[in-house]
Amino acid sequence: MPSPKGYTRLQIAFHWGAALLIVQQYLFKDAIAAAWDAAAKGVEIAFNPLVLAHVAGGALVMLFALWRLSIKARCGAPAMVGESAAQRALAKAAHVGLYALMILMPLSGSMAWFGGVDLAAQGHKVLKIVLLALVALHVVGALYHHFVLKDGLINRMRRAEG
Ligand code: HEM
Ligand code: HEM
Repeated sequence: MPSPKGYTRLQIAFHWGAALLIVQQYLFKDAIAAAWDAAAKGVEIAFNPLVLAHVAGGALVMLFALWRLSIKARCGAPAMVGESAAQRALAKAAHVGLYALMILMPLSGSMAWFGGVDLAAQGHKVLKIVLLALVALHVVGALYHHFVLKDGLINRMRRAEG
């Protein structure tokens, strides 16, 4: 796989787009959780734009993730940075996990919402905690690099470089 100096503009746009969408999925989750409870009780669900935003936002996260993976397969990504091989492996594992969850969250949510699969809803609730933990690890790692090691890592996700 090629190893470019930086991420492309599209990779950067999709990174921040997905991050913002994921934040809104957590901030406004109560609407879909309430609709799901109501559906389970057989109560009719009134239209709520926040439910639509959860479904559409989640679908976009998956689309962005798949698109990013296809760009990565064609153009590669810059080499991992880190003081030790263990640190680089941890960052790599976090990236793999984040991509996996950006696909598994919308998949489990869709199986619950469109297919009525209760087990998928339970899985969605467990995975939301795993995603939150990985995002926390990822953000702490990025801030540590940028502000403690002062290696300017966050600039990689600010400026495109071919
Ligand atoms: C990255 C994408 C997504 C994230 C981060 C996400 C996040 C969340 C969160 C934090 C909750 C609240 C869970 C709770 O009450 O404890 C939730 C609930 C739910 N989400 Fe998602 N979601 C995503 C995508 C989707 C999609 C695409 C759908 C449907 C097409 C969906 C359907 C649901 C349903 C049905 C619930 C209620 C489940 C329950 O309360 O048991 N989600 N989601
Ligand atoms: C929900 C939030 C986020 C998700 C899901 C996420 C996901 C990802 C993923 C999957 C990558 C790997 C990109 C690739 O190699 O193809 C990445 C890279 C990166 N992210 Fe995030 N990210 C999030 C938030 C943030 C935040 C808030 C920051 C800054 C504080 C950040 C900074 C970075 C940086 C600097 C890289 C490049 C790391 C490197 O090249 O080694 N991310 N992110």
